[in-house]
Amino acid sequence: MKLWGGRFTKPTNELVDEYTASITFDKKLAHYDIQGSLAHVHMLASCKILSQEDAELITDGLHKVKEKIDQDDGLLTVENEDIHMNIEKLLIDEIGPVGGKLHTGRSRNDQVALDMRLYAREAIVEITNLVVEVQKALHNQAQQNIDTVLPGYTHLQRAQPILFAHHLLAYVSMFQRDVERLRDSFKRVNKSPLGAGALAGTTFPIDRELVADLLHFDGVCENSLDAVSDRDFVLEFLSNASMIAMHLSRLCEELVQWSSAEFRFVELDDAFSTGSSMMPQKKNPDVAELVRGKTGRVYGNLFGLLTTLKGLPLAYNKDMQEDKEGMFDTVDTIKGALALFAPMIDTMQVKKENMYQAVRKDFSNATDLADYLVGKQLAFREAHAVVGQIVLYCIEQNKYLLDLSLDEYHQFSTLVEEDIFEKLAPEAVVNARNVQGGTAKNRVQEQLNQSETLFREN
Ligand code: ARG
Repeated sequence: MKLWGGRFTKPTNELVDEYTASITFDKKLAHYDIQGSLAHVHMLASCKILSQEDAELITDGLHKVKEKIDQDDGLLTVENEDIHMNIEKLLIDEIGPVGGKLHTGRSRNDQVALDMRLYAREAIVEITNLVVEVQKALHNQAQQNIDTVLPGYTHLQRAQPILFAHHLLAYVSMFQRDVERLRDSFKRVNKSPLGAGALAGTTFPIDRELVADLLHFDGVCENSLDAVSDRDFVLEFLSNASMIAMHLSRLCEELVQWSSAEFRFVELDDAFSTGSSMMPQKKNPDVAELVRGKTGRVYGNLFGLLTTLKGLPLAYNKDMQEDKEGMFDTVDTIKGALALFAPMIDTMQVKKENMYQAVRKDFSNATDLADYLVGKQLAFREAHAVVGQIVLYCIEQNKYLLDLSLDEYHQFSTLVEEDIFEKLAPEAVVNARNVQGGTAKNRVQEQLNQSETLFREN
């Protein structure tokens, strides 16, 4: 008989059991569920709702059930629907009817909200640490590439030369916002819903604060209806995870481009690349592609749950069981991606010479020629037009700005002097951007120092 079978005259249809059960996936919550039950039973005894003796029996029983599940999760069955009732059933099998006292003053509705909060809390800490590892790998590479010049792009067209360290540190900044968002979200997750009961609270003189303390929450959810129907903390996590996935995916896209024969800016280590079953020459950036590809499921999980929740009246509705698979999948997906990413970045070989050659064969110093003319009192707009003409001339002549002679410059502007050649050299162009946050070496060094301070705080 079902734990809730009292008012029923027939067993449920087997298909209903299978359709409504969540045990196939919420068994992931077993440890959190037991952790919550241990705190709950401790509180029931401390409030004299249960005798000390019963509480001890239940506590021992819960530990035994935990061991049993750890050894064989085949004990968890679809007939018992979800992790909460499976554990209660196993507890009763273990210690007899006294196990039935565990659920005093509690509902699966506040119980499942608790389990999800415990799960989310741990996921946030683990994922934050993994993001920091990726930041450190980027930072290491940045340190090794403080002198590496490459074209910076806008519209995927070469724009202005930058330091590779500067480019990598942009990602460190992006991931820092992710770290901050995760940390900020923690305070909203870290509230205990237990004591909300099914929706309205409970008639027993429980101590919600005690349970919250035992489980290291910062406090309790204030409104019992909200406590059982709120999944904002899941959505917030899924949203933060989506942003992490998007950041990873952008970097993946760059890694894929950079490792192509067209760019040849980096080579991913053999250990982080794969081959082709047909084409012997291939070395594919599969990890980067797959991380980029998996962004879709991470966004999907966010949109799935947003949509599930949008029409739900208060308080708990069975629809909310749909919060789990997406959450678990997102946690696994993001953890998997981040764990691979740090060593992939660490072992990535940077082709400094190819990057430099790219800068020598482009017009990414054209802005500097215009700025030079402005220095000679030409209005920027006029300077822009003059340099446009020079670039056009170069394209026709199959030359770059550093290939022109002073005579050729003078055909366009007599303001150009001999010093132009050193001004347009890649290093000079980079170092001229000596503004806070800019690409000049000493400014990038400042950014490196700043992120080191961050890591110490992280
Ligand atoms: N398996 C359910 C879920 O994940 C647990 C809560 C069920 N509560 C209920 N009253 N049916 O949401």
